[in-house]
Amino acid sequence: MEKVVLASRNKGKIKEIGDVLGKFGMTVVSRDDYGIDAFEVEETGETFEENSYIKAKAILDIAGVPTIADDSGLEVDCLNGAPGVYSARFAGEGCTPHDNNVKLLGLLKGIPYEERTARFVSVITMLFPDGRKLVARGECPGHIAEDFRGEGGFGYDPIFIPEGRDETFGEMSAEEKNAISHRGRSLARLEEMLGE
Ligand code: IMP
Repeated sequence: MEKVVLASRNKGKIKEIGDVLGKFGMTVVSRDDYGIDAFEVEETGETFEENSYIKAKAILDIAGVPTIADDSGLEVDCLNGAPGVYSARFAGEGCTPHDNNVKLLGLLKGIPYEERTARFVSVITMLFPDGRKLVARGECPGHIAEDFRGEGGFGYDPIFIPEGRDETFGEMSAEEKNAISHRGRSLARLEEMLGE
């Protein structure tokens, strides 16, 4: 089986991406398991595409085997797309996901529901040593809630209500969320592209 190195240490992502690549005879190993754990890749890009490319390329340059990386975040329309690529550190270096949610709810205080539109974005970049590149983008549109709801998920899940639903991602099971999420969609797109 061809090995693909994932530029992430997240166990959930290893499983999700591994399930898709497995259908095409490839097996995913984390950068740690491949022995590349000595450096941190700086995410200096201004788009999800740039950042996922930077991460995949850094590992490709070292490992010389196919690599895959994802980058994701939340875009809020009335904030001109913020927090965007800064989603993880919106409330400052070292902040918690809760700090980010509190900051976002504060910025949107008094803004009516119909203007609280937002979307989660996930971009997966796969690079091959011969120069081939696959870029799969998935989006999940929705609204920012007026308060926290639900204990599930992570990050902005307790304040994000996907389009056509009343519950936040934080109130859904992992299966329900994955069926409609940005990452579910970028993975489905990657699967399509690998099949082509
Ligand atoms: P990264 O792609 O791992 O760099 O994640 C960027 C940040 O986007 C995370 O730290 C979260 O704040 C946010 N984010 C990305 N995907 C999700 C999601 O599915 N739910 C909630 N927050 C998310």
